Amino acid sequence: MSNLVRFGVSLEDDLLTKFDAHIKKQKYTNRSEAIRDLIREELVKKEWSENKEVTGAITIVYDHHARELVTKVLDIQHDYHTCILSSQHIHLDHHNCFEIIVTKGKAKEIEVLYEKLKAVKNVKHAGIMMATRGKDLP
Ligand code: NI
Repeated sequence: MSNLVRFGVSLEDDLLTKFDAHIKKQKYTNRSEAIRDLIREELVKKEWSENKEVTGAITIVYDHHARELVTKVLDIQHDYHTCILSSQHIHLDHHNCFEIIVTKGKAKEIEVLYEKLKAVKNVKHAGIMMATRGKDLP
């Protein structure tokens, strides 16, 4: 467990007012926890930008009736099988499917996988949730 360190921050009062209102809406009970999370978020972004070993989830929504789409989505996933831990397919309704692909590996490889899936014709939405493996994050 790391030692707690206190430090002072100077900022404009209207900026602090906005920040306090923002974190209150997010259910934070104090500034320290909100600032800790902001710092952690920045450090996770840094892990991704430095192509570290990371983890994350890719989501895609598509109409499985679209010609060749399912084959293309599967082909891409097989090409990246080394960085895919699991995938879950949910049939949202008669037409639409939702897929969650859980990944672990080099950040750039996961980003390329995400971009390839997003670019498949008739994929209605693609998203990525960038997470950390937690090793370098106190
Ligand atoms: Ni389906």
